[in-house]
Amino acid sequence: MTEPLQFHLTLYPEPVLRKVAVDVPAFDDDLRATVRAMFDLMYQSNGVGLAAPQVGLQKRILVLNATGKPEDELALVNVTIVDRTGEPSLYEEGCLSFPGIYAEVKRPERCRVKAFSPDGAPIEREFDGFVSRIVQHEYDHLEGVLLVDRMSAADKQRHKAALQELVDRYRSRASSAARTR
Ligand code: CO
Repeated sequence: MTEPLQFHLTLYPEPVLRKVAVDVPAFDDDLRATVRAMFDLMYQSNGVGLAAPQVGLQKRILVLNATGKPEDELALVNVTIVDRTGEPSLYEEGCLSFPGIYAEVKRPERCRVKAFSPDGAPIEREFDGFVSRIVQHEYDHLEGVLLVDRMSAADKQRHKAALQELVDRYRSRASSAARTR
């Protein structure tokens, strides 16, 4: 028996978070196991969305659930936002890769996506409200764009110490990994 797939969260500023994710080549059992493990980690972390780079994978996969109800699970594979419409609004966002950091981000009200389900069925849908907000946040991850890039200069200043602490922790993880190699 193989071990169930288990991911851990990739935290800022790990380099994979800055890479542009690439399309998944096959809609197979590996992909479905990846999607399931991403949902599991998202729920464990009390998140409403998670993108593959946040589990260390440079793949265009995102999962979300705005309500936490099983029927509201949404997995978008090889996803593209094809249109964004509506009045931009400010809303406070968090990110599992930036624990404890929240900032208001301006985004358009609606987005239209083209994607595939984990089984390879084409999806074309328009989202608005909170779901649209989550989709746009997670989609940023696939383009290597992060909360820190979207926040105002004032918020960046306000979170300066917390951001620096994440950088320091990353550096100390990287140097202890180098020592044990
Ligand atoms: Co995020």
